[in-house]
Amino acid sequence: MCGIVGVTGTQEAASILIEGLKRLEYRGYDSAGIAIQRPHGQYVVKEKGKIRNLEASLDWNELKGTCGIAHTRWATHGVPNRDNAHPHVAGKIALVHNGIIENYAALKVQLRKKGRVFSSETDTEVLVHLIDDLYDGDLVTAVQKALALVDGAFGIAVTHADEPDLIVGARRGSPLVVGVGDGENFLASDVAAVMGHTRQVIYLDDGEMVVLRPGSVQTMTISNEAITKEVQEITWDLGQIQKGGFEHFMLKEIFEQPTTIRDAFRGRTLPDTGDVKLGGIQLTDWELRNIRRIIILACGTSWHAGLVGEYMLEEYAHLPVEVEYASEFRYRSPIIEPGTLCLVISQSGETIDTLEAMREARRRGAKILGITNVVGSTIARESECGVYIHAGPEIGVASTKAFTSQVTILGLITILLGRRGHLSADRGTQMLKELDRVPDLVQRVLDQAERIKDIARVYANHHNCLYLGRGVNFPIALEGALKLKEISYIHAEGYPAAEMKHGPIALIDENMPVVFICTKDSAYEKVVSNMMEVRARKGRIIAIATEGDTEVAQRADHVLYVPPSIPMLQPILSVIPLQLLSYHVAVQRGCDVDQPRNLAKSVTVE
Ligand code: G6P
Repeated sequence: MCGIVGVTGTQEAASILIEGLKRLEYRGYDSAGIAIQRPHGQYVVKEKGKIRNLEASLDWNELKGTCGIAHTRWATHGVPNRDNAHPHVAGKIALVHNGIIENYAALKVQLRKKGRVFSSETDTEVLVHLIDDLYDGDLVTAVQKALALVDGAFGIAVTHADEPDLIVGARRGSPLVVGVGDGENFLASDVAAVMGHTRQVIYLDDGEMVVLRPGSVQTMTISNEAITKEVQEITWDLGQIQKGGFEHFMLKEIFEQPTTIRDAFRGRTLPDTGDVKLGGIQLTDWELRNIRRIIILACGTSWHAGLVGEYMLEEYAHLPVEVEYASEFRYRSPIIEPGTLCLVISQSGETIDTLEAMREARRRGAKILGITNVVGSTIARESECGVYIHAGPEIGVASTKAFTSQVTILGLITILLGRRGHLSADRGTQMLKELDRVPDLVQRVLDQAERIKDIARVYANHHNCLYLGRGVNFPIALEGALKLKEISYIHAEGYPAAEMKHGPIALIDENMPVVFICTKDSAYEKVVSNMMEVRARKGRIIAIATEGDTEVAQRADHVLYVPPSIPMLQPILSVIPLQLLSYHVAVQRGCDVDQPRNLAKSVTVE
């Protein structure tokens, strides 16, 4: 999704901005641009496609300026091309924008009447013209007046050629972080863009603005009330966002899972009492005992983790659970009764639908517990209480390690709530002992990577794929199908295995590979029967089965084995071969695994 970087200081801005844009590449984008302020006017260059195209178009002799803003765009209004790329310019003002200005069409009509001419199809260009229209010698005031007139979401950075060391930033609904340096200051939509220069950051909240100069950072609300913000220190390092010898971030992140899963539960388990301690959940035992219903809100892969959580919480904590697509929940009239706890799951902590659904749930009286990865993200800051999954930066657009860490945390929350209800200490202890083995079991699955690569070769040229599972393996079927379609562009669907008879069975012939998640659990026999139905129609079968299971091997074309575990933790093991399968299929097909077409890592527009 779109990315913003800005710098004002004493060093040449262009190379800092290009480096920052490269650190934001993982978010997904289709064009990029840069505006540099120089003593004799601003220099703006934009290009469609990769940042290397932008770099190739830069005239470095023209780039001698120490203040500038830059952007990676992910198209919403208007196709990806040079005209629609940011920065957009009106008069002497340049602006980059993440988010969507919803009333841009009405504003455009008014501005056109005043003689304004537009050269792009974007909502952003309307905003820069609006600011220019309201400009009367003071950029901060013009930005404030303009933002009072717009509906929608924005994170923006604005410069003016007459004040060549000034950057004005503002946010509503789209993240923005200030990097505080020594004689230089930065602005970005993602902390990764400024990390090479400073570890001191200020996270802006909705409705806030910042005025940056080389030696000063002034924060205020968009309605011009001065505010004091806390400067925070970033605790992770740049090494964590580099590939570490792997060909792709996604592969690195798949292989990190034994460590990231352990990091998710490290120091949080109490095996002696079969209980857990989660420091971020500031609810009393009484409050925890009085939770009557759970609503899980999330999107994408995080939603699939939520579905696994539903099985866990119902089975072991005996609580009714609903898992909602955040985007649907926020526009319905959801019923929140007293005693409702909302688990809000988001890797990035910035997904706009999840954030807004969380706000809606809170407005209606639910208690909010955020489960996020990115420290300091908006969902983390706005949750009443929360748990970080501690997976480290996830760069690959297709989420892998965040999923297994989210499921791990949902397991801990299940034990926390279960132990305040029906779950015995013995059962809790058993579950925690099993959890402690999971990182080694995951490693055992990862050790089969070469075999999975061989199977991927066989299926790389197929056009469709079906994923089937029952019970807690149904969300794993959904996640397996999502992984495949996201990065290899093969049409894939996940289904509850029994539902196959109600439609998808019509698709099955020798050209339809079917992935069965068929581990030894209470639904095992039934899934094997479904497998026979596929075999009878000549479908090709890849089975994920439990180590030692010889029956499945007789029915499937290929079997990938996972070690046995308790039902609650089995999905963490079953998803690993599916992650590797989609990775290797995508590589075979020559797809850009880390930056799949049209997708974004952090979806900050509705
Ligand atoms: C995007 C990403 C997915 C992710 C989803 C939700 O679509 O490409 O990988 O699962 O957003 O993101 P979140 O950060 O809220 O977990």
